[in-house]
Amino acid sequence: MKQRPIGIFDSGVGGLTVAHAIKQILPGESIVYFGDTAHLPYGDKSAEAIAFYSVKITEFLLEHDAKVVLVACNSASSSAFEQLTRDFGSKVILLDVIDPVVQYVSTRGFRRLGVIGTKRTISSGTYESKICQSSPGTTVVSMATPLLVPMIEEGFIFDDISNAILRTYLSGGSLSGIEALILGCTHYPIIKNQISKIFNFNTEIIDSGRIVAMILRDTLEKKQILNDSGSVSDMFFVSDYTEYFEKIARMFFERDINLRKADIWC
Ligand code: DGL
Repeated sequence: MKQRPIGIFDSGVGGLTVAHAIKQILPGESIVYFGDTAHLPYGDKSAEAIAFYSVKITEFLLEHDAKVVLVACNSASSSAFEQLTRDFGSKVILLDVIDPVVQYVSTRGFRRLGVIGTKRTISSGTYESKICQSSPGTTVVSMATPLLVPMIEEGFIFDDISNAILRTYLSGGSLSGIEALILGCTHYPIIKNQISKIFNFNTEIIDSGRIVAMILRDTLEKKQILNDSGSVSDMFFVSDYTEYFEKIARMFFERDINLRKADIWC
């Protein structure tokens, strides 16, 4: 059990920001990653489609012997996690990227909090309803920011174009007066500093990677299934391969990786 990998999936390669945080906190763990590049973006899909994809991907990760399946995609966490819990909760440890952040927020006592994410994540209302339950004194303001994923993937970071887009979304308006902003999309950590600058560095920017990695570490410790063998081997799969995906995967994972195509949709 201990040597089995951590299964991680996302709509594409954005979930590699979470995988990167996991490798930093748990360097002794192996990972098996699946990016559903054939179907991205999930942010524009229906909840039903995302749940269908997520079930199939979870089966793939279980075939690869995952001891944990981590949904490293906010759109899938908001729309498919309940279904995954029903279908696989008795077979494998399941984690998402929303509950750990909601738990963290409940320890901070914010009065006004912002959430940004894809259209799917924001329209699901998942962050709002979960935070409302666990932190009743916190007002949550949420905003879909769909231009940010293509902007990041095309490399518009810390330049005039990204500044104009971020200012238009984030300055003033409903997000004014927030004490913290949740980055509700696994792509956004790449522009965390730029977002922080828009808020004059006086608003806490919450990114799920590290928070999720700590919850994962606690879970593995409690269940006594940390990999202490010293043997680590990582695998990265995508459902559609292009050199472009490999290039942007490097930006998200901060090191070269070898993406392999897995035909799970045939
Ligand atoms: N990684 C996805 C998320 O966290 C965003 C990308 C997409 O729309 O597929 O929601």
